[in-house]
Amino acid sequence: MKLLVCGGAGFIGSNFVRQRLASSDDEIVVLDKLTYAGRRESLRDLEADARFAFVHGAIEDPEAVDHALAGAGAIVNFAAETHVDRSIAEPDAFVRTHALGTYVLLEAARKQGVRYLQVSTDEVYGSIEAGSFTESSPLEPSSPYSATKAGADLLVASYQRTFALETLICRGSNNYGPYQYPEKLIPLMILNAFHGDRLPVYGDGANVRNWLFVEDFASGISHVLEHGVPGETYNVGGPDESDNLTVVRRIIELSGADESLIEFVTDRPGHDRRYSLASEKVAALGWRAGTRFEQGIERTVAWYRENEWWWAPIRSGAYREYYERQYGTALAE
Ligand code: NAD
Ligand code: TYD
Repeated sequence: MKLLVCGGAGFIGSNFVRQRLASSDDEIVVLDKLTYAGRRESLRDLEADARFAFVHGAIEDPEAVDHALAGAGAIVNFAAETHVDRSIAEPDAFVRTHALGTYVLLEAARKQGVRYLQVSTDEVYGSIEAGSFTESSPLEPSSPYSATKAGADLLVASYQRTFALETLICRGSNNYGPYQYPEKLIPLMILNAFHGDRLPVYGDGANVRNWLFVEDFASGISHVLEHGVPGETYNVGGPDESDNLTVVRRIIELSGADESLIEFVTDRPGHDRRYSLASEKVAALGWRAGTRFEQGIERTVAWYRENEWWWAPIRSGAYREYYERQYGTALAE
């Protein structure tokens, strides 16, 4: 099969492309706008593969999409603005990419008659104190990030009902692993711990996330793409839950840093307390998350230790300005 993978230069997209090329005969075209979070470096080891091609362009650009989609049998859409804190500071790009971009992709899929898979998030359900969200839980997003992702999911569902386009939605829980941009909790804490920078924990550090190793999300998406029932939504949750402070303490241990680096800082506005997904529906397709958090976090810390070539240019570039704006402190040189 030939796949169009939108947002394939990002964290999860690049892991998905690597896994598909290694485990199938797929040809893959990546369409990516290369925002601050999109990096050709994350695909560096795949560029020489004759089954791989890269197109630089935005999903909200119909010409770029038509060009990249030629001959493909399915679209897998990872392209998004993905950081909640940035969506609070500057929501504009979130609305454009999630609403307009998803619409342009759906129109192209409809015209060319190809299957469409939308990569979505547990954050569309909002926060849950106890128990887990199922696919029929109501959508109650809290941030501009999750609200625009929920809007995109609804648009996808409307194309299935109205135009009989074959669509699938995968809602993942918090991912971690290699190639994640260090604005997100786990890579931010790992790199700060390596450098002896403060470790900024929001609020009381008791917010809980349902951690999913990125390769397990990638395989869950493949399961849904190949075996999912068109029109259905599938939750893909991780095997372990943890509060933020426990995650940060484990990173401190694994990186040999000092506990005194932890600093409790002002909480995020609208901060969701807990996410938790019930994943029985995707499990019935034969998927399971093979990586427990303890194993995954060790692999992740080791990957960042061994791959400074990947993150050093980020830490010395525009990320420093973002960091100072967001946290009011400078990073160590
Ligand atoms: P990321 O920020 O690492 O990557 C996003 C990619 O999309 C980048 O390569 C970027 O250049 C590209 N992009 C952004 N806007 C674009 C546009 N308009 N046109 C084309 N390309 C564009 O994100 P990620 O963490 O890999 O997330 C991928 C998807 O998975 C997103 O849809 C996100 O909502 C979803 N998701 C993420 C998580 C998580 O924990 N990171 C969990 C569940 C679901
Ligand atoms: P994040 O990685 O931004 O993912 P999301 O908000 O999409 O779940 O944050 C994960 C958790 O970590 C969340 O509860 C917010 C918290 N957090 C901090 O305490 N400090 C930080 O510097 C960041 C980025 C996140």
